[in-house]
Amino acid sequence: MARKILIQLDGDPQPSTFDSVVAVDAGADVLLRHGNVTPDAAVPLVHGAMFTRGGDDLASTAIFVGGSDVAAAEAVFDRVRTTFFGPVRVSVLLDPAGANTTASAAVVAAGRHLPLGDPAAAATLRAVVLGGTGPVGQRVARLLARKGVAVTVASRSLSRAQQVCERIASAVPGSRLEPVLADGAITAETLRPGTPLAAALAAADLIVAAGAAGVTLLGATGRGLVGRGLVGRGLVDRVVVLIDLNAVPPAGIEGIAATDKARQEGSAVVYGALGVGGTKMKIHRAAIRRLFESNDAVLDAEELLAIGESL
Ligand SMILES: NC(=O)c1ccc[n+]([C@@H]2O[C@H](COP(=O)([O-])OP(=O)(O)OC[C@H]3O[C@@H](n4cnc5c(N)ncnc54)[C@H](OP(=O)(O)O)[C@@H]3O)[C@@H](O)[C@H]2O)c1
Repeated sequence: MARKILIQLDGDPQPSTFDSVVAVDAGADVLLRHGNVTPDAAVPLVHGAMFTRGGDDLASTAIFVGGSDVAAAEAVFDRVRTTFFGPVRVSVLLDPAGANTTASAAVVAAGRHLPLGDPAAAATLRAVVLGGTGPVGQRVARLLARKGVAVTVASRSLSRAQQVCERIASAVPGSRLEPVLADGAITAETLRPGTPLAAALAAADLIVAAGAAGVTLLGATGRGLVGRGLVGRGLVDRVVVLIDLNAVPPAGIEGIAATDKARQEGSAVVYGALGVGGTKMKIHRAAIRRLFESNDAVLDAEELLAIGESL
């Protein structure tokens, strides 16, 4: 059997060593690491992958698209896919800045406590994604919307949140999305009753904090308001899942430790970044292995979530 070659296409000057190490641990025999990759620069690199091996051996070559600029990586990913034609293709995975693996792992964690796998039940759920305009938050929102969950996207800028909702709505027809303004850490003092943000937090079954590293988005007193809405479902008689993806102190959700993993706190179940990180790493490694099972896998956030759900 041909050796497994993973071609890293990274938009940063130096391709990510993190992604390289994970690839080797997941079974890649050879890494071909390319930095400063733009969509145009990707084309001959993809041709090199397509036209060297034939038949079953084509499945032993694969492409990983990464880098810290998520939008730039998406443009490379799109160009890679349109460069393939007919059966002459290799498998490709998109995970810039760990955004897809992290978002998938967060949704896998939520799905352990909420009925995300049952479309009728998922349609009754409501989620709030704080810091919902970043690479991770946008993907969490998209994955939840695809499950049928009503998602509120919070941002310091209503127009940025609106743009994210519009982008997701065009990718996920029929999705229910609402942009809200969340300016500064949410506390009992700053959260004005009657605002869309207060209503969304009160009705939430799931809160995901996907804000920038080291920024608190939900303070301790703000947490007291989460899930306290009646919304026809009784006062806090349901599970509320809180997931903080920020690993850098102070916490994104005050009171959650990075190591928390399904820790019960009254009617809430809480996860910190490291509590989700183990699943993220498993998804990443499983996705690399999946690349080498065929020559036509295309792994974006949705496919990574499916991998995570099957682990
Ligand atoms: N566990 C893991 O393995 C893992 C992997 C990757 C990322 N992460 C973590 O996941 C989180 C999200 O990652 P990301 O790359 O999507 O984050 P990001 O782009 O750095 O930030 C996400 C959003 O946070 C908001 N924000 C930025 N600075 C802020 C500030 N000073 N105050 C309040 N809000 C601010 C911004 O939204 P608005 O400007 O629209 O408000 C931004 O779009 C980060 O904490 C990151 O460290 C964890």
